[in-house]
Amino acid sequence: MTATPALDTRALAARALADVALGGASSREILGRMTPSLGDARDRALLSALVHAGARWWLRYDAALDQLMDKSLRRKEPAVHALLVLGLVQLDVLGFPAYAAVAATVQAVRALGRPRLAGLVNAVLRRWQREAADLRVQLDHDPVARWAQPAWLIDATQHDWPDRSEDILTAANGEAPLMLRANRRHGSRERLLAALLEAAIPAHAHPDLPDAIVLEASTDVTRLPGFADGAFAVQDGSAQLSAMLLDLADGQRVLDACAAPGGKACHALECADIALTAVELEAGRIPRIHDNLSRLGLQARVLQADAADTAAWWDGSPFDRILIDAPCSATGVLRRRPDVRLHRRATDIAALNLIQHRLLESLWPLLAPGGRLLYVSCSILRAENEAVVTPFLDQHADALAVPLRLPMGQTAGPGWQVLPGDANLDGMFHAVIEKSA
Ligand SMILES: C[S@@+](CC[C@H](N)C(=O)[O-])C[C@H]1O[C@@H](n2cnc3c(N)ncnc32)[C@H](O)[C@@H]1O
Repeated sequence: MTATPALDTRALAARALADVALGGASSREILGRMTPSLGDARDRALLSALVHAGARWWLRYDAALDQLMDKSLRRKEPAVHALLVLGLVQLDVLGFPAYAAVAATVQAVRALGRPRLAGLVNAVLRRWQREAADLRVQLDHDPVARWAQPAWLIDATQHDWPDRSEDILTAANGEAPLMLRANRRHGSRERLLAALLEAAIPAHAHPDLPDAIVLEASTDVTRLPGFADGAFAVQDGSAQLSAMLLDLADGQRVLDACAAPGGKACHALECADIALTAVELEAGRIPRIHDNLSRLGLQARVLQADAADTAAWWDGSPFDRILIDAPCSATGVLRRRPDVRLHRRATDIAALNLIQHRLLESLWPLLAPGGRLLYVSCSILRAENEAVVTPFLDQHADALAVPLRLPMGQTAGPGWQVLPGDANLDGMFHAVIEKSA
């Protein structure tokens, strides 16, 4: 019996990155497909780290290759081009030992079935090593290469947050911490923290969020104590603000209009004995909601529908609380979803705006007098946040914004904006709108 040759992780990462950066594929989907083929946990971690870092830094090192090579391989040999980007990322960002990074990249080009390009790959990486200081200066002159973000997003960030744009652009290129949400119905946050520390997992309680635990290093969460029993969920602290701002109480009827994968819905159910209806448009995303509910020991009515088409799914009983976690540009969560910057276009914002306005308008009549609607987006763009909520308030005499003051972030029109990196959280906008009684 012949042994199956070991898969070369860098070659796999290069193929994945080429599909993401040049083919428009989602890194989450590609990694979900490729990762199981790797038996070793370290290879899986390396694959994911390389694809994420490669997507995050693509716009910088893709530009660097234009300086380093006379003729780009981008079109003719996309996987080798992506492998070169990954080589530069390993040398310049990830701090891998240079000899190992170059040797492994040259080996990977052979694993890609392109041995004749091994010499070229070696020469390009060696040239970077010799000329890195000058090349970095040149790259930093161009904002796109400097921030590894598309020009439209850099412009929009500078326009919307002139005093904070450098912080926002910098935070988007950092590593996001791994945060958990302790399941109140399972046990206290302190008990979970003690179990983690006992298992030698360094972690601490987030000072401003009652259920949040910050892990000091990334890890396979399914191996943490209590995962299978539903002791916790993985959720950034920003997303944990929703349940706080909904002001939940036992007996309320609550609608989560944009529910998958169910993170905020589950948190709401952990906080109070509510009757929750979770609506989600994408049928393929519904199983994730059920998985999360069942692992955490929670129950909700889950419907597949366009939430804005209320005639199709609403039973006519008003809700005391409505959460609209609106589909948006995801520009507040670039550090967790590095491929968003490569796929999102400036023209997407107007299309998203239509959906955001439509959800608000069509769901407002479902809110009981005296009830509360929470509009949330993980965007940093004012166009998707206050520019959606302010006209809505102007046009509805029975809608009143509740002034917010949170421990982190800043006022943004009638709502509150946590910017990426504020208290080390993801970027997220919240507006609480009350209906007059
Ligand atoms: C930001 S995500 C929601 C995240 C979720 N609330 C959580 O905390 O896990 C937005 C979701 O809204 C869904 N969606 C988009 N348009 C919708 C619509 N018209 N009706 C219902 N769901 C919609 C998307 O498929 C996506 O799953």
